[in-house]
Amino acid sequence: MPNDFLSFFLSWLSSPRRVGAIAPSGAALADLITREISATTGPILELGPGTGAFTYKLLKRGVRPQDLTLIEYGSDFMKLLQMRFPGARVLWMDAARLTTERLYDGAPVGAVVSGLPLLNMPKRKVISIVSGAFSYVRPGGAFYQFTYGMSCPIPRRVLDRLGLRAALVDRAFLNVPPAAVYRLTRRPQMKVVAASAAPATSVPLVPGSDAKAGRDRTIA
Ligand SMILES: C[S@@+](CC[C@H](N)C(=O)[O-])C[C@H]1O[C@@H](n2cnc3c(N)ncnc32)[C@H](O)[C@@H]1O
Repeated sequence: MPNDFLSFFLSWLSSPRRVGAIAPSGAALADLITREISATTGPILELGPGTGAFTYKLLKRGVRPQDLTLIEYGSDFMKLLQMRFPGARVLWMDAARLTTERLYDGAPVGAVVSGLPLLNMPKRKVISIVSGAFSYVRPGGAFYQFTYGMSCPIPRRVLDRLGLRAALVDRAFLNVPPAAVYRLTRRPQMKVVAASAAPATSVPLVPGSDAKAGRDRTIA
């Protein structure tokens, strides 16, 4: 992996909020965020690949270049990514537009790997990005996000709204600065009885809600 410190630092100087870090991600973080991914994961969507630290690691893990779609908004990184990963699909776009573009037929993606600086973004943009990415994720697939913060960078209310749960994969203490990786997955959906099958006096399953007759209800 080439030393990209200087070019990355210059990008950060020109757009600190978008780039979100003064140096490219280190080997320990690249290792951690790709740890649960292998050649059998299938199509991978990478958001904010920057200089490609995670992309290199994905290829090392056996992911086929043609299974990689890289979404990068910084024009400074585009040429570099196209040159380094000629077999991958490299798109210059804002990850918030994932739902408006049709990137795949259906939802084949096995994993999303995100280096996006979500803590620098307004909540609405985070919702667009995460929900847009999940529209391509197949059942059982996951969204991996790193953060320099102390907790998951996607607020609890956003996770609830999107029916997702977050779990800490681990922390990369050797990264500078130390970082953590979270795995987002869909909450299991529990189909609950049609009201006609339930006793007339049944208690609502969601506190404060009323069970409407004849309608299926779902709780996340
Ligand atoms: C913290 S850096 C990623 C560093 C990367 N892991 C590396 O080692 O080079 C964040 C990246 O997200 C990109 N980015 C920020 N906002 C974006 C957006 N809305 N859509 C796509 N990419 C975005 C930035 O241009 C930058 O490349």
